[in-house]
Amino acid sequence: MDTTGTLFLPPQGSTMAPEVDAAFNLILYVAIFFFILVVSLSAFFVIKYRRKEKPGLTSGKDRNFKLEIVWTVIPSIFLLIFFIMGFRTYLKMNIVPKDALEIKVTAQRWMWTFDYPQGANSINELVVPENTPIKVLLSSTDVIHSFYVPDFRLKMDVLPNRYTIAWFEAKEPGEHNLECAEYCGKGHSQMLGKIRVLSKEGYAAWLEKAGTANASIPLEQYGAEIYKTKACYMCHTIDGSGSVGPTFKGIYGHEATLSDGRKIAVDENYIRESILDPRAKIVLGYQPVMPTYQGRLKDREIDALIAYLKSLKE
Ligand code: CUA
Repeated sequence: MDTTGTLFLPPQGSTMAPEVDAAFNLILYVAIFFFILVVSLSAFFVIKYRRKEKPGLTSGKDRNFKLEIVWTVIPSIFLLIFFIMGFRTYLKMNIVPKDALEIKVTAQRWMWTFDYPQGANSINELVVPENTPIKVLLSSTDVIHSFYVPDFRLKMDVLPNRYTIAWFEAKEPGEHNLECAEYCGKGHSQMLGKIRVLSKEGYAAWLEKAGTANASIPLEQYGAEIYKTKACYMCHTIDGSGSVGPTFKGIYGHEATLSDGRKIAVDENYIRESILDPRAKIVLGYQPVMPTYQGRLKDREIDALIAYLKSLKE
């Protein structure tokens, strides 16, 4: 479900969301109630006890013991309720169920990579089965990022050099936004992903297909798919317009000027090198920001991308 543009809270996409919202709403409404009570009483007293022309004597009593007990005990009870609600949910969020399916999540400037059991991987789209606890093992290859899924009420920092863990269980098939919630540089606002929740059968079928380089469709068409699923489109357009990286339109076969002034022909080997070792040869006018896809793309996938680039003639 698309969570952008919701007026108040986004839809509840996980088993944890209703609990988090219950605590949030209780605190919110109690706060609103007391805000109105305190402000209206203050206003009332300001008017009632304002200085009149001939003020009478005020009471010499400066203390009301019963009143003080009441306004101490009642808020304490509320605080205790908030604490118990919050702590119970906090414990649930932090104890991963034993039968959880583990998926490795790697953050790097500026994309998400997901590694599944059985060797499948995906980029910027996390695919999970419904009604199954999912444990995400999070780490970063560069700076601090944050794994944030508003619909799941889930946010966990992703750190370099150590693992963090979070878990969730999605209630039904659908799509949810994944955002990076820790400023991580120029591409931070582009570091968006999706979580696609499938039925259990759908997930099994997806996993099988994702685990093998798809041999049944033509390379060029497969390349077009990879352009989307591996998120090349985040930085490279196919219509000739500029973006973070050079456009793919007409790129094959043309001569590129590198940042050190050399000129090279964009051929199969240059494209392959740019995918596996993007910082080796930077085209003039662009920043060396592309992450390496070493180990993230199979040979057939690279072949397919090259075939796809060749098809995007000017
Ligand atoms: Cu990654 Cu912000």
